[in-house]
Amino acid sequence: MSDADTVTASPVSVHDLDLPLVTPEMRELERSDSAKAYRSVAEQSWIARSPVGYSILHYDDVVAILRDKQWHNAVALLPTLMGITDPFFTDRPTSILAAEGEAHVRLRRLVAKAFSPREADRLRPFMRDVVNDLIDPVASTGRADIAVDICDPYPIPIICELLGAPREDWQLFSRWAEDVLRIFDGTAADELDVIKQAQTELNEYVVEMIERRRTEPRSDLITQLIAAEEQGDRLSSQELVTMVNAVIIGGTDTTRNQLSCAVGVFCDHPDQWALLAERPELAPQAVEEVMRYFGAIRGTGRFASEDIVYRDILFPKGTFVFPSLASANFDGGVIADGDAHTFDITREPVKGRMQMTFGSGIHYCLGASLARAELQEALPILAQRMPDLAADGRIEWKPTATAIFGAEHLPVTFSAVAGR
Ligand code: HEM
Repeated sequence: MSDADTVTASPVSVHDLDLPLVTPEMRELERSDSAKAYRSVAEQSWIARSPVGYSILHYDDVVAILRDKQWHNAVALLPTLMGITDPFFTDRPTSILAAEGEAHVRLRRLVAKAFSPREADRLRPFMRDVVNDLIDPVASTGRADIAVDICDPYPIPIICELLGAPREDWQLFSRWAEDVLRIFDGTAADELDVIKQAQTELNEYVVEMIERRRTEPRSDLITQLIAAEEQGDRLSSQELVTMVNAVIIGGTDTTRNQLSCAVGVFCDHPDQWALLAERPELAPQAVEEVMRYFGAIRGTGRFASEDIVYRDILFPKGTFVFPSLASANFDGGVIADGDAHTFDITREPVKGRMQMTFGSGIHYCLGASLARAELQEALPILAQRMPDLAADGRIEWKPTATAIFGAEHLPVTFSAVAGR
């Protein structure tokens, strides 16, 4: 046997590969052009070089990487990446989104029941009331800014109802959620005082709520989380506060932006809007299709917690990858037939190949059942009460680099309908 036979070829490092590029300009294109630009890169390669790492573009690879526990959620590194050094932000207890391994399994097991489809279904009548109440003031005018009038306020009462916060505190929650979420903005470093203040007030409020629920249990999420027990294990008060924060952070901006993305798509597809009004039973399919076609979360980030070899390529420890949920959503395999660039709410999702906007693997969206219910309830009511919907001028989209993308302003006209 020669020496050459005994040497195992070491995998080539990803840094040495000649890869196509995805550029910031491609993200800044108008949405459908951006999707097409990403897909044209995806046709050349499953992986592309991006400004701070590598974009993963094909469905199977996005799923494989999100399911591989050696890849850790980059959200844990966010404050450091943004140059934030204040211990208030850097030394926070690990949230479920940033936890990995056993710590994550434990948290997920403790809270899973509270986020089941059954729990989400309990809130459906409440969701219908909220959306109808938001439509009432604009219904007779035939005009609305859907983003401001409907999408922005929609998730707050639902999260409050879920948690068990009373109606008089909705405004407080809305402000805290908005300020706390600024941590994800590119300008976060300049707004740390505002964020800190909101976070402190929210934490104090939640601690008080937890104390009250310990002596007066109700049927809300806080009570369920307090009671969550798995083999004698429980969430500590600190973990409860962190979990409630994760719910507020994960469950407000996402839903409101996804709803605005959905209405934006329907503005371009009036036939599909009319079809949804006529056949509200299509809502579940419509939600999957709209999230596939235009997801509010277009990608996520992971870093290699150790040297990883995937597809015979070495990803050295610390390498960043960005699984593109949006690109995966246009991969042929996600739709049974037809053109992925056609928006069709009658499309049946392909079994085992769901749209990717809720992610995949251990961090798969904890609130997916709730978010689905919220969108499934809101969209048909909007379609029925706002027939002949059309964009009234330019839709103002958020900057494309925003982690959770959606409309800032979505002015529309529609045919006014009397009564509910
Ligand atoms: C349409 C609305 C929503 C979208 C598009 C969405 C999307 C996502 C995505 C993509 C992830 C995974 C992130 C990653 O892997 O890096 C995620 C995780 C998460 N989401 Fe959602 N989400 C939505 C609504 C909600 C709601 C309503 C809640 C709570 C009530 C929620 C709570 C969470 C939590 C707690 C996690 C972290 C789960 C974990 O790490 O185990 N989300 N979401």
